[in-house]
Amino acid sequence: MDKLVINGGKRLKGEVTISGAKNAALPIMVSSILASGESTIQRVPELMDVMTMGKLLDNLGAGFHYEPGTAVINTAHINNHVAPYDLVKTMRASVLVLGPLLARTGKARVSLPGGCAIGARPINLHLMGLEKMGATIELDRGYVNASAKGLRGSAIYLDMPTVTGTENLLMAASLAKGTTVIENAAKEPEVVDLANALSSMGARISGAGESTIEVEGVDELRPLHYSVIPDRVETGTFMTIAGITGGEILIKGCRPEHSEALITKLREAGLEIEIESAGMRVTGPDRPSAKDIKTMPYPGFPTDMQAQFMALMAVAEGTSVIRETIFENRFMHVAELRRMGADIEIEGGVATVRGVPKLNGADVMATDLRASASLIVAGLGAEGRTTIHRLYHLDRGYERIEEKLKGLGATVERMKDAR
Ligand code: EPU
Repeated sequence: MDKLVINGGKRLKGEVTISGAKNAALPIMVSSILASGESTIQRVPELMDVMTMGKLLDNLGAGFHYEPGTAVINTAHINNHVAPYDLVKTMRASVLVLGPLLARTGKARVSLPGGCAIGARPINLHLMGLEKMGATIELDRGYVNASAKGLRGSAIYLDMPTVTGTENLLMAASLAKGTTVIENAAKEPEVVDLANALSSMGARISGAGESTIEVEGVDELRPLHYSVIPDRVETGTFMTIAGITGGEILIKGCRPEHSEALITKLREAGLEIEIESAGMRVTGPDRPSAKDIKTMPYPGFPTDMQAQFMALMAVAEGTSVIRETIFENRFMHVAELRRMGADIEIEGGVATVRGVPKLNGADVMATDLRASASLIVAGLGAEGRTTIHRLYHLDRGYERIEEKLKGLGATVERMKDAR
């Protein structure tokens, strides 16, 4: 297992280019199942989750080939409909194959994902929506068995605007008979990107990005040739890095319109953010000021940026109240930030962060993907050496992170960990 050693306290300066969005690339890769033939997807980041999805597609009989930036998937010979436990347990996004497999082959057997570090994360809404479209769903020894003799359009209301749930239903509805209306749909940019990808395959979708999405099913879709949007969470992570190090970073190739809530909060915290044609230039203050946040579905403040924002608030002037409303257990980074000298109290879904002038380097443990990112932010801002153990979480979602950090002048090194 790898660890990352950071010698913090340097002002980071320079340019960084944002990679394709993990959470858009994964559903778009899966959408290739809906057509027969060779799909080419550009701007697919080289991440562990992408490789896991490739393995899953391979396992279904879809040929998967990756070369930096491009995934080629051949779905002419899908001959299996099982997403096994081993793959689903390492990546929950594997459940995204449920809708497309059902629509293309009439059956899917997908392992139930189970809980994970950040919460219980059920998939009841995915299943409810597919049942409404005529699928028969049975739970069998930890697996979802779904079958359908042709899906039909339906009116579906989601109790929560679930991101992957909306994506699963969008994909299934694209090949269903008749019209599907999804109410209280997720509005995340990744959902819109998937809808655009599906439209490029011949799907008829309107309203993506709004709370009501309408899908008129078609008989057949064409293979996909598409380029994924830039990653707004990677973008946000580099913004907080500029903030905590008092640095100046030009974040290239990003889409500022996908990060409005974060930009507003960071500006209020004292960061200077200029939108330029190449991207965003972010300049950190001598010391940020405390701001409260509450995570919400898009366009609210993203839960995927809560941990990194908290690291910044740990050194802010004043007290910040951070409310996590999406996942019940997304404060695993707090204990680690405390090891670095942060003064944070948690009660239920609320963290109260009393800013301290400086964090100190320490040995810390990464517990999930965004928690790892928050420890990098903290480590870069801290005085002295921080060692982040269990780095594999980070490799699920950040492409060439140490190379990018080194390019900004950071002293970071990946090493083998004896543990
Ligand atoms: N929920 C239900 N029932 C369902 C589905 C969801 O109750 O059937 C609840 C969840 O328990 C949670 C809330 O709805 O409380 C929102 O969860 P959602 O389904 O939207 O999350 P997700 O689709 O599993 C995606 C991202 C996450 C991101 C969340 C929220 C992908 C592959 N994953 O997960 O990304 O945090 O949306 O924006 O798109 C990450 O990249 O680090 C990550 C965890």
